[in-house]
Amino acid sequence: MKRIVSGITATGNLTLGNYIGSIKNLIKAQNEYEIFMFVADLHGITSPINPSTLRKNVSEQLKTYISCGIDVNKTKLFKQSEIIGHTELFYYLTTISNEGQLKRMTQYKDKSLKSSNKTNHIPLGLLMYPILMAGDILLYNAEGVIVGADQKQHLELTRDLAERLNSRFKLNFNIPEPIIPKIGSKIMALKTPTKKMSKSDDDINETVFLLDDLKIARKKIMSSLTDSENKVYFDEKNKPGVSNLLTIFSAIKEITIEESVEKLKDMDYKKFKESVADVVIELLSNIQNKFNSLTDDDVKSALDKNKLYIQSEADKYINKVTKGFGIR
Ligand code: TYM
Repeated sequence: MKRIVSGITATGNLTLGNYIGSIKNLIKAQNEYEIFMFVADLHGITSPINPSTLRKNVSEQLKTYISCGIDVNKTKLFKQSEIIGHTELFYYLTTISNEGQLKRMTQYKDKSLKSSNKTNHIPLGLLMYPILMAGDILLYNAEGVIVGADQKQHLELTRDLAERLNSRFKLNFNIPEPIIPKIGSKIMALKTPTKKMSKSDDDINETVFLLDDLKIARKKIMSSLTDSENKVYFDEKNKPGVSNLLTIFSAIKEITIEESVEKLKDMDYKKFKESVADVVIELLSNIQNKFNSLTDDDVKSALDKNKLYIQSEADKYINKVTKGFGIR
């Protein structure tokens, strides 16, 4: 069975973008693939974060994955830091990485600029972040990685590092393929639909969080930015707000953009937004009902389920790398 790895950084509450770009596709893939899915707490500390916030994020994210439909009897769910090997492989990979390639990463450029504006320095962790991510994927020798479009560049680096490992050390790691959804690979911010919806946006009204109060989530969608034309059709360049809402609607309902336009084209913007809000609220409400029924013990037993197997798979590939390097 083909193996897939995916993770979400523990920097905040999960968003509708995370759901559409990643979680939804993992849920669909559960029956076909062997999935390793983790909460990336080590990635969560690459920028300063309050320890109690991090702890809360990790526990809420794990509960939210399960509430969305991640089935722990099928998917190997875990916390990144609990599996020894992520940090170890990260170190080995730094020795075959180039600073120049890391500095060219779009996410690094954005985040380092933000960081130096705020604090006057750039944590080295921000630069190294994609190497840690490459390690997460190669540690399980994944063949595919389910991600949104923003992670494509990081995947390219992972593929480069896998090729470098194979050619320099005579190893045979898979060169992992990105698996990116056709609809919703980049959900945009609600008030500024030219930028990505993000869990760490300074303005919470840009983002629908999966655990948002339902009334607040509806309000966020009703006050999202559209345009003055009052006509519903898809044109990402000239109508980014309307196109983003159409994408959200299509992704959740699992229909094409054309089918959504057909359903919604005769509505004015108020009615259109209400229709989009209705499908979002239905989704959130199902997730939240499940979330409220889960206990911390449920999460603990989910994490315990496959821990030994996950660790043994990680050990297997660490051994290959250390032997390859001549360390063991
Ligand atoms: P993160 O936490 O930024 O995002 C988690 C996943 O959600 C997707 N995503 C989106 N998709 C569509 N529209 C959006 N607005 C949107 N925002 C986020 C992301 O593409 C991602 O798939 N580096 C990763 C976490 C990670 C990882 C890994 C992923 C660490 N190690 C190994 C895969 C494999 C990240 O920061 O994702």
